[in-house]
Amino acid sequence: MRLLVTGGAGFIGANFVHTAVHDHPGDSVTVLDALTYAGSRESLDPVAQAVTLVVGDVADADLVDSLVAESDAVVHFAAETHVDNSLADPHPFLRTNVIGTFTVLEAVRRHGVRLHHVSTDEVYGDLELGSAQRFTEATPYNPSSPYSSTKAASDMLVRAWVRSFGVNATISNCSNNFGPYQHVEKFIPRQITNILTGRRPKLYGAGANVRDWIHVEDHNSAVRRILESGEPGRTYLIGADCERSNLSVLQEILTLMGRDADDFDQVTDRAGHDLRYAIDPSTLRSELGWKPRHPDFRDALRATIDWYEANEDWWGPLKDSVEDDYRKRGQ
Ligand code: NAD
Ligand code: DAU
Repeated sequence: MRLLVTGGAGFIGANFVHTAVHDHPGDSVTVLDALTYAGSRESLDPVAQAVTLVVGDVADADLVDSLVAESDAVVHFAAETHVDNSLADPHPFLRTNVIGTFTVLEAVRRHGVRLHHVSTDEVYGDLELGSAQRFTEATPYNPSSPYSSTKAASDMLVRAWVRSFGVNATISNCSNNFGPYQHVEKFIPRQITNILTGRRPKLYGAGANVRDWIHVEDHNSAVRRILESGEPGRTYLIGADCERSNLSVLQEILTLMGRDADDFDQVTDRAGHDLRYAIDPSTLRSELGWKPRHPDFRDALRATIDWYEANEDWWGPLKDSVEDDYRKRGQ
């Protein structure tokens, strides 16, 4: 399969490309990535010989058209992804997430190429703390932040292009990922690298907000399964039944790293902070037979800590400027 992976130099995309190269040697893989602050050529170093990296913008219609014309399938990860950044400056989110997805859709429509669009559970808004409710494929869209509203818009575009133009596309909405190569702006790597650099971890508010965690390899194995066996036009929810409060995740990190469980700072809460996400992944399991390979959160978290300890070369150059930005926002 000739695969075009947009955003393949970012966290989830790079992990997807690593697996494609190792587990599917018949694939030829081209990555289109603008190498924004969130993308890194180094994330593709382990597979650099086997991958073509095109540095460019997913909203560049001519470039996207020429790459799609030479592909059998597109996996569309490219996006602006950090909620706090979208609160500070929404503009790049509109451009990349909405216009970028529109650009990809027009190209796959012209060339009759299969598309998998990678999206988020944040399009559904949030759930009450302590309730038993979970997001399903039928949950109405109700995004809260500039980030999630642009991802919701991108999903709507995909659905419209399927219905109106017969584009062969699937969508997945996944919960919170963690694992190697995640940018240090995000919650788990921020806390691990705070501890590794002698800073105190930072918790927004009281830390009662709940996220549903999944290891990035499990997200990607689900994306691969949907790409190969998903039904055109369908949406699939991806999750690994791992709800945790932010406070409990932080205390698990502190304990695994040999610190006291109260050795952190509480900082200004996020505006509009979504309370709880929870995914019902039963359709993916029953219809496509998918299951996670990293069901033990503590083991996967320990392996993630080990990865950041061993790979300071990768994250070290990013750390100071990320913390400077957070400090300016009181976080
Ligand atoms: P990331 O921020 O780590 O990576 C995004 C990548 O997209 C970067 O390499 C960046 O350079 C690239 N990019 C940004 N703007 C671009 C543009 N205009 N043109 C080309 N490339 C551009 O993000 P991630 O966490 O790997 O997320 C990947 C996808 O998965 C996103 O669509 C996100 O919405 C979705 N998602 C993420 C999570 C999560 O927990 N991280 C969960 C569910 C869904
Ligand atoms: O649910 C999927 C989404 O998960 C993806 O679509 C997004 O791209 C991804 O960034 C992630 O969004 P969140 O906002 O949930 O992730 P983040 O890592 O920013 O924060 C996780 C939780 O931790 C959230 O409740 C805010 C809190 N937090 C975050 C940071 C950075 C803190 O308490 N302290 C922090 O320093």
